[in-house]
Amino acid sequence: MRFLFPSNYFKPQRVDSAYTEQCDRLHKSGFDTSVISLENLSLGASKIYPPPHPDEKLIYRGWMISPDEHSLLVNAVRNTGADLWIDRDEYLSTHYLPNWYPLLQDLTPETYWFNVDADLNRELIKLGWNKFFIKDYVKSLKTSIGSIIKDPSEIGQVVAEMHKFRGTIEGGICVRKVEDFITETEQRYFIINGRAFAASTATKIPDIVKVCASRINSKFFSVDIIDRIDGCQRVVEIGDGQVSGLVGWSVERFTDIWAESFLDIFTLTSDRVLLSSSKTPLLGGVPVGRGG
Ligand SMILES: Nc1ncnc2c1ncn2[C@@H]1O[C@H](COP(=O)(O)OP(=O)(O)O)[C@@H](O)[C@H]1O
Ligand SMILES: [Mg+2]
Repeated sequence: MRFLFPSNYFKPQRVDSAYTEQCDRLHKSGFDTSVISLENLSLGASKIYPPPHPDEKLIYRGWMISPDEHSLLVNAVRNTGADLWIDRDEYLSTHYLPNWYPLLQDLTPETYWFNVDADLNRELIKLGWNKFFIKDYVKSLKTSIGSIIKDPSEIGQVVAEMHKFRGTIEGGICVRKVEDFITETEQRYFIINGRAFAASTATKIPDIVKVCASRINSKFFSVDIIDRIDGCQRVVEIGDGQVSGLVGWSVERFTDIWAESFLDIFTLTSDRVLLSSSKTPLLGGVPVGRGG
């Protein structure tokens, strides 16, 4: 097992500085690490340094990548005889909201999703809510107008600003019912091979996290949990573990959970089968149309 990080743009055999600490710490804990140039993926010219051993499983840790980039990454790894531990479908099963939402509908705000060129103003009017939380399949807008609007006519501006600030809309547009969350209570958990870990060993894993771990069929993902003012815990979002940031986590703790999971991975991985979430055809991730 080897961790694969993005390389430094100017020094392709060195790790991207944003990931230096994680890479060093994993290495010191006995894990093999390599780097790959994400910039050269589309040229088919990306080399992995140092090269993995044939048949080795690689865990990517790095920037969010598009479904096409993920396929290119898989190809680059397979060219060495090794393979990625998380394939494209498994990546998208947690990276794209419309893929995980049907499995956790009772635990997370009501959500609908649309093609970016749909008549979004009309769709929002039809929903008839007094507030709308807007994001694409992956991220919300944290600048300018923000991600919560009251007036459906503002949706055009949110989408335009997503294009402007993020360069692209990933997948399509998700419209979520706004709930009264207590922002500062949000916590990230990581699930590795069905086992949940908190940022602190002192934190008891909440039941809602265990439910997510049992319903989502991915070997490595993150779960963000928040308190609502009525005391109910809710899922804010699920993310693929390879590209989830260490929000609220120390690099040391993140490394420790891999050390703890190492034996599980080697004894359980081959027995795992993909459940219903991944059996529904994934469209560049997801089925087009309305969720809810
Ligand atoms: N449906 C919602 N109602 C109210 N607040 C929300 C809702 N969804 C998300 N938020 C708030 O917005 C923040 C960002 O949303 P999130 O879905 O995590 O987007 P991102 O992928 O950009 O992190 C969350 O941390 C939460 O505080
Ligand atoms: Mg978030």
